[in-house]
Amino acid sequence: MYEDFYGFKELPFNVTPDPRFLYRSASHRDALAYITYGVFQRKGFIAVTGEVGVGKTTVVGAFIDLFQPSLEVAFVFSTKFVFEQLLYLICKDFGLEVEGKNKAQMLLALNAFLIEQNGRNRNSVLIIDEAQNLSPDVLEELRMLSNLETRDRKLLQIMLVGQPELESVLNMNEMRQLRQRIPGICRISMLSREDLENYIKYRLDIVRGRNGGASFTADSFDEIYHFSGGIPRLINVLCDRILLIGYVANTRVIDGHIVREGIRDLESPYPRSADRRIRP
Ligand SMILES: Nc1ncnc2c1ncn2[C@@H]1O[C@H](COP(=O)(O)OP(=O)(O)OP(=O)(O)O)[C@@H](O)[C@H]1O
Ligand SMILES: [Mg+2]
Repeated sequence: MYEDFYGFKELPFNVTPDPRFLYRSASHRDALAYITYGVFQRKGFIAVTGEVGVGKTTVVGAFIDLFQPSLEVAFVFSTKFVFEQLLYLICKDFGLEVEGKNKAQMLLALNAFLIEQNGRNRNSVLIIDEAQNLSPDVLEELRMLSNLETRDRKLLQIMLVGQPELESVLNMNEMRQLRQRIPGICRISMLSREDLENYIKYRLDIVRGRNGGASFTADSFDEIYHFSGGIPRLINVLCDRILLIGYVANTRVIDGHIVREGIRDLESPYPRSADRRIRP
């Protein structure tokens, strides 16, 4: 809506996990390296955690984008599944015909598929997002799944992605057999104040068109950091809001005052929606 005013080619602060926008902070870079290492060294299991909105799904998407041609990926969002339901979704996402098959038949089909992919030198990766929802029973069955292997390599790399609660589940005593198979858990951290500034500039750069763009003052970054704690999703929600306020106020300079107004809007139970103040 305000793209034309700032001359943006597209909206800079969408809340979808779009890997094109990946800003490589030290922590996001580490996570990408850890995933790459785990998958290509065929470690069998890897785990990535982080607070809500910190960028887990975005990093995983960037990994897939980078290595897509050599990977066979199944991507599953976990809810409170029993294993058989999860297995069904895994098989479906790998493109297997599973209608009417029972658990043993699905496991056989999956095994045959993984052997075939391995024969074609393709690395099969199962990504389970929101994995903090998995019960210890389901995790135990996943461990069995990761036992599918040839003499020298794991046939399936299982990537667990979830909120920090996932660490608590994996660190339970009864989970130690699984935990021992994971080469360290990678936790993505929030952006520092310095990273936050670079993150915002980076996203603005990607969408920059011919028209002047938006310029943020130093105190605006301080206010955004204070509000968001360096969590990218909160940064995006706030930045989207303040760009709208800037547009309504007919200014491309975003200062602390505008940011505070944006925060008040977001925190108010009855937002004085900037949308209502938009010029006709
Ligand atoms: N390093 C980054 N570079 C660019 N954008 C990012 C980065 N990290 C997060 N984002 C943005 O922040 C938002 C939230 O990211 P994402 O959905 O990946 O978080 P998440 O950790 O998976 O959250 P959840 O716990 O809710 O699943 C998205 O809009 C995403 O584009
Ligand atoms: Mg996510």
